[in-house]
Amino acid sequence: MDHNGDNPGALDALLTEERVFRPLSRVVSNATVAAEDLARITESAKADPLAYWEEAAEELCWFRKWEQVLDDSNPPFYKWFTGAKCNIVYNALDRHIETANKNKLAVIWEGEPGDTRKLTYYELFREVNKLANGLRSLGIGKGDRVVVYMPPLPETIITLLAVAKIGAVHSSVFAGFSAKALRDRISDASAKLVVTVDGFYRNGRAVNLKSTVDEALVAEPTGCVESVIVVHRANVEAEMNDSRDIWYADLVRRESPEAVTEVMDSEDMLFLLYTSGATGKPKGVVHSHGGYMVGVHRTLNWVFDLKPTDIFWCTADVGWITGHSYVVYGPLLAGTTTVLYEGHPLYPQADRLWSIVDRYGVNILYSVPTLIRMLMRFGTQYLKHHDLSTLRLLGSVGEPINPEAWVWFHKHVGRTECPLMDTWWQTETGMFMISPMPVSLLKPGSVNKALPGIEVDVWDEQGNPVPPGKGGLLVVTKPWPSMVRTLYNDPERYKETYWSKFPGVYLAGDVARKDEDGYIWIQGRADDVLVIAGHRIGTAEVESAFVSHKAVAEAAVIGIPDKIRGEVAKAFVILNDGFDPDAGLSRELTEHVRRELGPVAVVKSIEYRETLPRTRSGKIMRRILKAEEFGEEKGDTSTLEDLDR
Ligand code: PRX
Repeated sequence: MDHNGDNPGALDALLTEERVFRPLSRVVSNATVAAEDLARITESAKADPLAYWEEAAEELCWFRKWEQVLDDSNPPFYKWFTGAKCNIVYNALDRHIETANKNKLAVIWEGEPGDTRKLTYYELFREVNKLANGLRSLGIGKGDRVVVYMPPLPETIITLLAVAKIGAVHSSVFAGFSAKALRDRISDASAKLVVTVDGFYRNGRAVNLKSTVDEALVAEPTGCVESVIVVHRANVEAEMNDSRDIWYADLVRRESPEAVTEVMDSEDMLFLLYTSGATGKPKGVVHSHGGYMVGVHRTLNWVFDLKPTDIFWCTADVGWITGHSYVVYGPLLAGTTTVLYEGHPLYPQADRLWSIVDRYGVNILYSVPTLIRMLMRFGTQYLKHHDLSTLRLLGSVGEPINPEAWVWFHKHVGRTECPLMDTWWQTETGMFMISPMPVSLLKPGSVNKALPGIEVDVWDEQGNPVPPGKGGLLVVTKPWPSMVRTLYNDPERYKETYWSKFPGVYLAGDVARKDEDGYIWIQGRADDVLVIAGHRIGTAEVESAFVSHKAVAEAAVIGIPDKIRGEVAKAFVILNDGFDPDAGLSRELTEHVRRELGPVAVVKSIEYRETLPRTRSGKIMRRILKAEEFGEEKGDTSTLEDLDR
């Protein structure tokens, strides 16, 4: 069981991990980047990263070439391909219309009820242009922020592309987020426009989304939103406010299928994506046109070894960074066919994924450990009824994958023939940073090594590299093209969060270790951020949702391990006078938090306390709660106010 492959031998001596999987010679000989080339390219990229990224940039079209590959004169505000003019949509769409890709499928979409839509590059191009014209007719232009609050639909892709085409900035908000989360993001971005749907299908139900937008806008303090575009999807009741709301179909009906693509500076903002940080306020991660397209294009092409006939399916929601980079932009930049599914992955039963792979002949399946663990529970009964032989490569992202789930995915879904790419990256990195390539030797549970052009390390608190086997802080020591440029409206927080601990070095916020072979193993977050089912959520956000309930005086939240979701929240709560802790209240609080933050915030248990451990300055010490929970040493308690108070 330890080794698979048809070329065993040579490298065994190097390996200390018990289970190592080597690629089949068939995979190796077909790989775009051969093993010996990878070693050579990695070495030369280490010596001259800018030459490496410049060469990657040459693969795309620019309206004007750059004067400088990297401007690092004002760190950490790095600029890439300065002086260049481009538009990511020109590369993801317009240029394909002049090639054999014109009539190739760009998008295969399947709705949860089973309805499907397929769009060629040409059809997608026309739809994007119509909407681009529609947006312009609403007065949206360069630099304006557009919040996209939509489930995975063809219109979601069309919207992102149309917004970027006219030089506006999209800011997606996952459709599972609550009205409050939506409102906060709309306000922070001062969005002029929201694009949404009447409703969508999830787990056999039509979920009303327009009403959530209405709720968010009623109390939106800045009053910035001038228009709301509503896609008609699920036939649910949508109250239309005549002075603000317009149906998508009415907007585009008479628009021309031709539209001018805005010429952007390489550094112009492409999108904003809010993600959770260590404080309650979400961070607006800013990405720009030039560097982002270079990074995403290169990493997808190489890590997933794209071939012209591939059908690529990344199961992430478009509303997260994975969806942005590897459902929408990456596949379209590469001219490949991207699959999009609207609904719940277990609906109507646990073979939905396999059925989609089978029916469309998916070649590459990129998913998340939580989903893999959910599917594992059903054994292999559902797999057996589907032909998965088209699969060539698998991928995983978002949270550490436990070796058991890795091996199951590799063996039962990938027939032990498909290399499994466990990709480490973040909203802030924009693209894969640490990942194997198809020719790599794989260790289940390890994200392998940094990709060419990327320099990462594992450091102790003082900034010294830790020896093999020891945990430390994951850092990126050189800038990369698709890096976060700043936090929207908050450059100080950008500096403080990522660049202050080790000046000039990016602090990822993860704990990791390297093994003797230099393979990296991600252990989890180092800060007060939970990763629940691959979704980031700050403990402070969950705490503030708790205290917004009338029964709660104070709350502290920690992450505890969960078999399926990887991690879930546990809350320690101090109640206000007059409230009694009981099962009914716990249910109510759990529901309340879910309503406030959306279903991402899974609270597994609530423990009622009279006091919480705090520092003398009053800060709650979650570290102590964690140590108590797991029966570990409490470590340094010198700042602790009084444990037995
Ligand atoms: O903790 C790491 C975890 O997800 C965090 C980034 O979350 P987000 O910005 O939402 O982006 C998720 C998708 C790119 C990281 O700091 N993470 C991401 N990928 C992995 C991972 N943990 C372990 N293994 C991974 N492959």
